[in-house]
Amino acid sequence: MAQIEREFLERQEPTERVFQAPPFIPRAKNADLGLEKLEGERYYSPAFMQAEWDRIWTKTWQLAARVDEFTEPGAFYVHELGKESFLFVMGDDGQIRGFYNVCQHRGNRLCQSELGIMDTFTCPFHGWKWNTDGTINHVADPQFFRQFDDGIPTEELGLKPVKVDFWGGWVWFNMDHDACPLKDYLGEAGLHLETYEFEKWHLVNFQTFEWNGNWKHAWDAFNESYHFAELHPDMIEFGEGHDIPIELLGIHSRMINFNRTVSEVVEDQETITPLRKHMMLSDRAGWRRNETTGYTGAAKDVHLEEIRRRRSIEDETYLPFKNMNDEQLVHQYHYSFFPSATFTQTPEGGAVFRYRPHATDPNICYYDFFIMAHLPPDAPRKERPRNRIHRHAENSDYSTAFGETFDPILANVLSQDGSNMKTMQDGIKSDSFTGMYLCDQEIRLRHFHKMIDDFISGAITTHNLPSGDAFLVRD
Ligand code: FES
Ligand SMILES: [Fe+2]
Repeated sequence: MAQIEREFLERQEPTERVFQAPPFIPRAKNADLGLEKLEGERYYSPAFMQAEWDRIWTKTWQLAARVDEFTEPGAFYVHELGKESFLFVMGDDGQIRGFYNVCQHRGNRLCQSELGIMDTFTCPFHGWKWNTDGTINHVADPQFFRQFDDGIPTEELGLKPVKVDFWGGWVWFNMDHDACPLKDYLGEAGLHLETYEFEKWHLVNFQTFEWNGNWKHAWDAFNESYHFAELHPDMIEFGEGHDIPIELLGIHSRMINFNRTVSEVVEDQETITPLRKHMMLSDRAGWRRNETTGYTGAAKDVHLEEIRRRRSIEDETYLPFKNMNDEQLVHQYHYSFFPSATFTQTPEGGAVFRYRPHATDPNICYYDFFIMAHLPPDAPRKERPRNRIHRHAENSDYSTAFGETFDPILANVLSQDGSNMKTMQDGIKSDSFTGMYLCDQEIRLRHFHKMIDDFISGAITTHNLPSGDAFLVRD
């Protein structure tokens, strides 16, 4: 058990309130998922990639865009996933719909911009047009088509829809029209996060990283903290990721990273160094700098002071402290929804990660990084941020990728994570590699890959989801 956990357990004040998100401390126990090694082929086999497409990507719920990006009828947003492109658009009736972004004449990509506002969508090849509700608006020279002698088959020529649903201020979609409703899919894990009031959050920045590694390497890298001490030596100076509580929640999972403290593996627990001052005594993501001055205690205990401070202003602040357990007030609640969406945040802001496969190559993935902020209700609206794609490069430095919206120290952490994508992809292909050893701090990976296998085999479908506590023993 991490030192901070013991201390937090001792000092936590008892409360009569019942919170939507149960705290991680005291720890629940995860089911024993065995000790088997994880084979490397799943990261580079084209057959495995195809099986993932057929049984996972086309059957599970995926994140598309923020609801508030659809500001008026005609506002649209294009999203790519694997070989597909999708067009999400608000109709004149105010409804947001999703379609395959494919011209029904000869199959051209219909909308070729990322976002904007349009009355109709015109294919640049021969000029066929569609309305914002997906119905056909115009066929160029229909008299040339003997197929249309008896009239244009409007039903058949409509854009092909995908299932759309909403949660957390996000538009989600599913290519499977028979999939279970999104709320059932997100299950208990979704309920936990409702206290953050994500629908009020703003998207502040959105960047995409193309990496020369399989999408699951990216998922794996961002769902365990076992690598912090070696790969992110800075991070353990101002947070704890060593031996942290983890919970498996049906097909999803969560962990907690402790903020504003010092890892138990670091010798100096006391000194407020310049790095610690910067990362622990100020709100570190640039959207709300607010120095907590006058703190004179030990570096490892800053989080306790901050919890007390936040609890004391819970009646005045617009932030939903009142509905949150003490852990949530300061620490990082990190949730991953199978297969491709991670939400990691404190009450005032956080990040959403999205992992996407390449269209054809299992050796390439896209890692989307969204920065989110819960701004005061009267804060001016941000412009819809443009997505920027950072192509794979050796020794990539992302310190300036996010401008003012993300701390350069954390951007450097992201560069460190990205640096393993190609080397992992290369290494696991070696004839000498006989599989991964996964420890209990990597149990989310073991569980995630088991979910992948179970979806591929058909043991799990969206109509046969394991319950939220199927892999969990809570006292
Ligand atoms: S391919 Fe789109 S109008 Fe011809
Ligand atoms: Fe990392």
